Amino acid sequence: MSTIRSLVALGVVGCAAGMAFLYSGWYPMGADTPHTKMTFWALETLREQSVARASAELEVPPLSGAKQLLAGGADYNDMCASCHLKPGTLQSDLSIGLYPKPPNFSQPEGDKNASADEDSSEQARHYFWVIKHGIKASGMPAWGLTHDDDRIWSMVAFLQKLPDLSPEQYQIITARKDDSAHH
Ligand code: HEC
Repeated sequence: MSTIRSLVALGVVGCAAGMAFLYSGWYPMGADTPHTKMTFWALETLREQSVARASAELEVPPLSGAKQLLAGGADYNDMCASCHLKPGTLQSDLSIGLYPKPPNFSQPEGDKNASADEDSSEQARHYFWVIKHGIKASGMPAWGLTHDDDRIWSMVAFLQKLPDLSPEQYQIITARKDDSAHH
């Protein structure tokens, strides 16, 4: 009986200490102060497990169509490159200032969040889910609120090709057809 009592007492003290910490205002919230290793690990584990679980049942459509690549490329250049960069651009104000940092998709190994043992269909499901739903408390928006699934899969198709593109190839693939009409 006394062990149970001490365990309950310990739990109560633990909760009180946790609440005291939350209300103390001591945790640095600025994006220019990195998380402690523990907090970073906890948030990373939370994100990876959550996305893996939520995306496990997604059906990946064929992702090699030229049309898809062109549509995904143009969308990427308009909506994503400011944070996730493009071939020949190593940083931007957003890529420097955001925390957590947006992965640099223009470079092989640029995606530090990707786990090494992920195959390309797992990666496609993971990317699709994150693009559609975004990531809480990070700069990553949920694009699914304004874009349909086909458009998102096209961006996934483009992301898988992006690390192999030179700056010139990037420019050609991401140009919108009607761009020439404007100039
Ligand atoms: C305002 C900046 C910003 C914009 C714009 C943005 N992202 Fe992100 N994105 C982020 C950040 C920050 C993360 C990392 C979140 C984290 O680590 O918790 C991220 C994460 C991701 C990931 C997950 C990578 C992984 O391995 O877990 C994908 C995929 C992604 N973004 C794709 C896109 C696409 C496609 C677009 C354009 C439609 C886009 N993002 C636009 C900031 C941005």
